[in-house]
Amino acid sequence: MARFFHFKSLEEIRTACRTLRAEIGFREDIEPLFRPIQIGPIRVGNRLCIQPMEGCDGTSDGKPDNLTFRRFERFGAGGAKLIWGEATAVVPEGRANPRQLLLNDANASAIERLLRLCRQAHRQAMGSDDDLLVGLQLTHSGRYSQPKPWPVRHDPLLDPLTVVDRSTGRTMDAEYPLLGDDDLKRLEERYIAAAVLAWRIGFQFVDLKQCHSYLLNELLGARSRTGLYGGSFENRTRFVRNVLAGIRQAAPGLLVATRLNVFDGVPFRQIERAKQLAAAGHAPLGWGVAADDPMKPDLDEPLRWIGEMRRLGVVLVNVTVGNPYASPHLLRPFEYPPPDGYDPPEHPLLGVARHFAVTAEVQRAFPDLALVGSGYSYLQEFWPYAGADNVAEGRTTFVGIGRAALAQPDFARRLLHEGRLDRRRVCRTFSYCTALMRAKDHPLGQYPTGCPPFDKEIYGGIWDELRKRR
Ligand SMILES: Cc1cc2nc3c(=O)[nH]c(=O)nc-3n(C[C@H](O)[C@H](O)[C@H](O)COP(=O)(O)O)c2cc1C
Ligand code: SF4
Repeated sequence: MARFFHFKSLEEIRTACRTLRAEIGFREDIEPLFRPIQIGPIRVGNRLCIQPMEGCDGTSDGKPDNLTFRRFERFGAGGAKLIWGEATAVVPEGRANPRQLLLNDANASAIERLLRLCRQAHRQAMGSDDDLLVGLQLTHSGRYSQPKPWPVRHDPLLDPLTVVDRSTGRTMDAEYPLLGDDDLKRLEERYIAAAVLAWRIGFQFVDLKQCHSYLLNELLGARSRTGLYGGSFENRTRFVRNVLAGIRQAAPGLLVATRLNVFDGVPFRQIERAKQLAAAGHAPLGWGVAADDPMKPDLDEPLRWIGEMRRLGVVLVNVTVGNPYASPHLLRPFEYPPPDGYDPPEHPLLGVARHFAVTAEVQRAFPDLALVGSGYSYLQEFWPYAGADNVAEGRTTFVGIGRAALAQPDFARRLLHEGRLDRRRVCRTFSYCTALMRAKDHPLGQYPTGCPPFDKEIYGGIWDELRKRR
């Protein structure tokens, strides 16, 4: 069944990387993954991070529900010492789906219970949670909010792909209204209020999510926007600078992190148009995108921004690329695409190598800033060896595990005790989880997501139900 991933040994995957010129190193000794590291006041016990992985399984008003509790418990018990809580909206109209978590006064105590359960499971499994760092990702989905998009800029490539009316399939046009400066000013206050709530209920850090074409990511590339939040670099970064200042005042003990796109890329279905626009001298088509070649990263502005955020107190940066709807092969290299996707236009190992290269470039520029690298799951049972090599060689601080954590949430304990993953539960990147995420024909307007092949107990039945409906 596999089309690209045929590797049975480290030697085979090393040879493939050499042939493809995919710069991925592997180290059999995985000890670097278990080196503690200091982040703010906390000595974090290992270099293994569970990435933010939404389960789309909250209640309609944004509280965690049974499956959310189950996921956080399993993540807590898994042994990774950095747990990056999933996308949680700061306002109801900024949710990406009708079951996304929402942090507000009414939901705070339920989300507090979620955190407690996660930490308690960690203590039971690992003996102590003194060296466990848990945070929450704060988000507004901007252009991808449901049911109504709230864009902050017009984009010649994404507008034609952004559906504004599901019943007619109508897409965005140049007349579609943008969020105004006053709306953004009010939204800054919502971010600060959500950060204060997260701090009060015990999260050690919040992530101001600036990735994957959601609102704060789109602002970074809002060159064509006029007014206070568009045009110059200073204006495009104003929102997060204001929020950072507000958090420093209102929640002085809270650590602040950010998940940041360092390369937006361009939508896969618009590559030819992107090349035409670039050839005609259009401004860079996104954040971190080279002006003359939209297929290439240009990290000048992202590095400048990371340097500035660091001076403003950001202590942890989770590096990522791409857009989950328009360029998923960049964000999560896969063997098979989800139903709304496309066949990989490059060998997925090249996608993994791109993740590693951009993270290494940031880490080289800021050797003592804590970074999380992304894009590991495609490497299947070999990701721990690539992670160990990246940590040992100073190309990242933490190894961030996304889909592979849905398939095997206890990967860190397995690595600690057995020295290797459980080979019967290794993510194969066949995208069932993304297919569930994209499925909306559920009574609550959204299917919950997890790993049908390797977490059959729950998601096997959910997957069968979805198939019967189709
Ligand atoms: C089901 C699912 C849910 C996700 N939820 C989030 C999220 O809440 N926030 C986020 O920043 N990224 C999210 N991602 C992206 C992952 O964190 C990760 O960056 C991506 O899957 C690539 O890493 P991997 O190769 O280890 O899977 C999600 C991905 C999947 C498949
Ligand atoms: S469904 Fe499971 S095996 Fe498939 S990509 Fe998602 S996490 Fe990996």
